[in-house]
Amino acid sequence: MLGGGFPKGHVVLVAGLPGTGKTCLGLQYLFAGVALGEKGVFLSLEEDVPQLLDTARQFRWPADAAMRAGTLKVIRLDPKETRQSLHRIQGELGKELTATGAARIVVDSVSLLNMLSDDEPSRRATLFALAGACRESGATTVLTAEADPRHPEVTRDGLSEYVSDGVVLLGYRTAADGHRVGLSLRILKMRRTPHVRTVQPYAITANGIQVDARAVDLGGP
Ligand SMILES: Nc1ncnc2c1ncn2[C@@H]1O[C@H](COP(=O)(O)OP(=O)(O)O)[C@@H](O)[C@H]1O
Ligand SMILES: [Mg+2]
Repeated sequence: MLGGGFPKGHVVLVAGLPGTGKTCLGLQYLFAGVALGEKGVFLSLEEDVPQLLDTARQFRWPADAAMRAGTLKVIRLDPKETRQSLHRIQGELGKELTATGAARIVVDSVSLLNMLSDDEPSRRATLFALAGACRESGATTVLTAEADPRHPEVTRDGLSEYVSDGVVLLGYRTAADGHRVGLSLRILKMRRTPHVRTVQPYAITANGIQVDARAVDLGGP
């Protein structure tokens, strides 16, 4: 769908409603990198580290080996620890990420950043600082974000789209009677890259996300 994975150095937004597999896709993307010998960093705003590692183990991705080898690093940014998390994002995070030597970074999810500030301008500043820190490190980044339940083709904050070079939308397919019948994926934008515009069905399986026929190559550079 992309002709070989997410472009190197891009910040790609993966947006979708809860349960569409954003966290799963993020982990899968990192482990695809680990399999290629690339380092990955998972910045988790939602799930605690043990929970996240459990999820990875469930998909049989080598979480423990990667943590031991240092090819996977999980950074927990707890939105409840507002001051500390904000300070980190606006301060040393860029340097921290660069120091890890990560080729792939996942931030799950930027929607939780909204909890860190009370007003729109500070929310914006935090999102830009975080995306900037990822970009600065030279890694390819996946930001996940919650879709707006009323307009599931845009994010809740309506802003993450603009800090990203690409947008992948995960959504539920609904039958004529309104029942959810499956999942599908679309690439809405990918700067400087020719990409398909088809809606591609996918499933979350015991081995992670599997996109039907001529899938997105999550293992690409
Ligand atoms: N082993 C599995 N087999 C099939 N589906 C699974 C499996 N593990 C998780 N899922 C599905 O993935 C969903 C959660 O995906 P997740 O990545 O946490 O979504 P999101 O982060 O978008 O909320 C679950 O609701 C479940 O439907
Ligand atoms: Mg999630």
